[in-house]
Amino acid sequence: MAKADESVRNGGGTIRPARIEDARDVHALRVMEGVRETILALPSERVSDTEEFIRSTKEHLMVAEVDGRVVGMAGLVIPFMARQRHTAGVGIMVHADHQGRGIGRALMESLLDIADNWLMLKRVELSVFTDNERAVRLYESLGFVVEGTKRYAAVKNGVHADEYLMARYGK
Ligand SMILES: CC(C)(COP(=O)(O)OP(=O)(O)OC[C@H]1O[C@@H](n2cnc3c(N)ncnc32)[C@H](O)[C@@H]1OP(=O)(O)O)[C@@H](O)C(=O)NCCC(=O)NCCS
Repeated sequence: MAKADESVRNGGGTIRPARIEDARDVHALRVMEGVRETILALPSERVSDTEEFIRSTKEHLMVAEVDGRVVGMAGLVIPFMARQRHTAGVGIMVHADHQGRGIGRALMESLLDIADNWLMLKRVELSVFTDNERAVRLYESLGFVVEGTKRYAAVKNGVHADEYLMARYGK
């Protein structure tokens, strides 16, 4: 995780595990313009929904903290079924005012370090809207490949939008 820490330190912050007390900041991230459209959040979400999510996610949730505020979060969620526990799904978001400064990369690297070196996962996967170029480029630079296109996969701003299914294979 040293590389990730160093990267975020350039923006003045740290990468650390999420805490319940982060819920208010994380909720603000989820519903803000510049984030909400590209993740599967809704404008009607409550802080209590985020609190419940942080509390109930037993696995790996990392946040980026800058000047005492949470400005990004990424999670690695491992399926419940025993025969799929060599795989995980990833989700990530960075505050609209802090995007393009290396925080997303640092968060992803912190999760991939856990996936590669501590859980030795064989497969990490994610879904991303096909027009989310910044995210696709980040994922490709970290070794993810497009496995396919999910047509009409999710509602986005009044349309049924396509998503790529992307995955990265461990050793
Ligand atoms: C996608 C997201 C997580 C990336 O995080 P970030 O902190 O903005 O990205 P970084 O600054 O770490 O940049 C990582 C890579 O993204 C790409 N990137 C960054 N800014 C970009 C831009 N303006 N245009 C295109 N690609 C860009 C580059 O490949 C960059 O690699 P580099 O570090 O070698 O230059 C972030 O922008 C975000 O949260 N967006 C809204 C929510 C979202 O889309 N989540 C993902 C849903 S699948």
